[in-house]
Parts: sequence; C-alpha cells; structure tokens
Amino acid sequence: MNSALTAVDLVKHYHQGDQVIEVLRGADLRVNPGERLAIVGRSGSGKSTLLHVLAGLDDVDSGEVFVSGHNMTRASANERARIRANNMGFVYQNHHLLPEFSALENVVLPLQIAGVGKHPAREQAAHLLNEVGLGARCGHLPSALSGGERQRVAVARALAGQPAIVLADEPTGNLDRDNAEQVIELLAQLSTKHQTAFVVVTHDVSMLPHFDRVLNLLDGCLKVYG
Ligand SMILES: Nc1ncnc2c1ncn2[C@@H]1O[C@H](COP(=O)(O)OP(=O)(O)OP(=O)(O)O)[C@@H](O)[C@H]1O
Ligand SMILES: [Mg+2]
Repeated sequence: MNSALTAVDLVKHYHQGDQVIEVLRGADLRVNPGERLAIVGRSGSGKSTLLHVLAGLDDVDSGEVFVSGHNMTRASANERARIRANNMGFVYQNHHLLPEFSALENVVLPLQIAGVGKHPAREQAAHLLNEVGLGARCGHLPSALSGGERQRVAVARALAGQPAIVLADEPTGNLDRDNAEQVIELLAQLSTKHQTAFVVVTHDVSMLPHFDRVLNLLDGCLKVYG
C-alpha cells in the first residue's frame, strides 16, 4: 500500500555556539492513508522539529521524507512548496487565521492559491465550514469567533484541497477540555470521511483514545507508546 508519508532514518542536529543538540537520531515513520497518528514526548524532545522536517520546512542532516510518494528531502525549495500545497494541511496551536479575513475567506485562500476558481473555492469552503459546524459563522472575522470556533476554522482550512495528510502541532493546546475534545473528535470524523491522514503532536493523554496509533519521540527516535 502507498503511504501518505514515509520518513526514513531522520537525523537532525542544531548547533548553538559550540554546543551540538542532537534532536533526531534516526527517526523512522510510516503513515498510512487515512491513519490517525498521535506523537507524544517530553518538552524539548523534538516534536515540533520533527513536524517541520516532515513538512520540508527545515532541513535534515541525513534521511529522507516522502509525501504521497514525492521525495520532499531532495526537492528544490519551489518543488517542496508545491508538494506541500498539493498534499499537506497544517493546524497550529495558535489558529494562525488572517485577522482581516472572514472565516470563509480564510478557507477560500489556500484553495485559490492551489488554483481553484473563485466560485468553486467559495462553495468548497462553505461546505467545509458546514462540516466543522460553522455554517452559520462564515462571515465572522476571527476576532468574532470563540477560541474553539477559530480552531475549527483552522481545521476546515487544513482540509481545503483534500490533502493526503494534515500535520498538527498541539492543536488543542490553547483550548479548554470541552473544546479540545470537540476539535479532536472533528479531526477523527473528518479523517474517516475524507480519508485524510493526521499526525497530531499532543501533550494531552486524554485525547489518545481518538487515535489509531500513538508514538513516543524518545532519544531522537519514534517508539511505540505505552
Ligand atoms: N532553531 C534552533 N536552534 C537551536 N536549537 C533548537 C532550535 N529549535 C529547537 N531547538 C532545540 O531542539 C530541541 C527540540 O526542540 P522542539 O521545539 O522540537 O521540542 P518539542 O518536543 O516540540 O518541545 P515542546 O513540547 O516544548 O513544544 C530543544 O532542546 C530545543 O531547545
Ligand atoms: Mg513543540
């Protein structure tokens, strides 16, 4: 079976003055299409670094990342951006919505950047916002949405363009328990419905039952959790 994402033997160091910080020391990962994977690990273990590397936003010292079969590591910066735009979605701890754009426009934007025409983009965005329970909030600016609603718009935006995989770095980190639960349930439902794989970094062990598999980033490698 093709994978949504494969990472092979990732090694990544940071140099800080004369100090070398070994963050990834041979991390391997394979995410199947539609799979919901959680990554846990102590603070500073390298979870955010790993997601940056998987997204091709940060270089590795060695190892390779394949996204929907495309070699991200060997691609040029332009090719990486195209692979990202066509195959990946992102959800951040802080929603990162554009403040001067409505909920609908925030979801329309990545679709238009990917080349979808104005009218179909608006239709798809409205449909996605409906799916995350915000059909009645399309015209709201982010400042006129609750924290949970903003994060649900961010989920709709991440799914715009039907990416094979969505990467999320502590997407519920700023939410209370009820909203966090809702956002994770939404991710789970939508991944089933759209066959989108999710890789979610989380500190919240109460969310883990929503995932198919949990890995622990420990000593620079990904290991089965528990
Ligand atoms: N640009 C950088 N330059 C030097 N060191 C860095 C850089 N970015 C991260 N680090 C170091 O790499 C290690 C891993 O950082 P990272 O942010 O990936 O951890 P994390 O697991 O996401 O932590 P948290 O759970 O607190 O978000 C840390 O020790 C951090 O200090
Ligand atoms: Mg982090």
